Amino acid sequence: MRLNKYIADAGVCSRRKADELIANGNVKVNGATVTEYGIQVEKGDVVSVNGTVVEEPSAKVYVAINKPLGYITSMDDDKGRATVAELVDDIPERLFPVGRLDYNTTGLLIMTNDGQLTYTLTHPKHEVWKTYVAVVAGVLSDTRIAKLRKGVDIGGFVTSPAKVKVIKQMPRHAVVEIKIHEGKNRQVRKMFAAVGNKVQSLERTAIGDVRLGRLMSGHYRKLSRQEIEYLKSL
Ligand code: URA
Repeated sequence: MRLNKYIADAGVCSRRKADELIANGNVKVNGATVTEYGIQVEKGDVVSVNGTVVEEPSAKVYVAINKPLGYITSMDDDKGRATVAELVDDIPERLFPVGRLDYNTTGLLIMTNDGQLTYTLTHPKHEVWKTYVAVVAGVLSDTRIAKLRKGVDIGGFVTSPAKVKVIKQMPRHAVVEIKIHEGKNRQVRKMFAAVGNKVQSLERTAIGDVRLGRLMSGHYRKLSRQEIEYLKSL
C-alpha cells in the first residue's frame, strides 16, 4: 500500500494532509525519514508520524443493518438505550453508522470503518437519494403530494423537491414512498407534519441503489463488492 494511503487509512488524517506530512519530513518508515509519498509500505514496516507509531490500518468492512425500533444510531448511550453498535458486536472491527436514523425509525443503515465513504455519503453536496416508506395518518391528498414534490418549509428550511408515490390509501391512513436527498434532523416526519399528515411509522428502504431487501430486523449483511464500488462512485 502507498504510504499516503496507509497513513490516511489508519485514520491519522486525510490523504492530502498525509502528503503534506510526508513532504515536510514528518514521516518515518522503519526509522528513516521518507519524503516520497508514493513509496510502498510492506507488511511488517513500522510507520511513524511525528515520532508516534501509526497502527496498521484495519481491513475495511461495510455492512447493511436493518435497524429495529428503539435503537439509537450511536456507539454508546448515557441513558442506557440499545445502540446499533450492539447489532454488529460480533464484528471485530469498530464500525460507525453512516448518518443516522431516529430512535423510532426502522430500516437500512450502513455501518463501516471507511471514513472516506462516510464522508461521501453524508456530505450534502453529494445528494445521495434515500428512500423511505412512511405510514401517515389521514388522507394524503393530491394538493399535499404536490407540496411535498415542490418543497415544504420544515421550520427555517425549505426542502428540495421530493419524489412521492402513494402505495396505498386507506380510509384512515396512507402508505407512502418518499425519496429525499437531504438529511435534516427528522426531515421526513417534519415534511409530512408540514402538510398535515402525522407519520405513524417510518422505514428506510434504500440508500441510492443499495436496498434493504429482505434483511430481517436486527440483522446485518455484508455489502457486496458491487454495492461498495457503487457507493464509492457516488
Ligand atoms: N427522516 C426522519 O424523519 N427520520 C429519520 O430517521 C430519517 C429521515
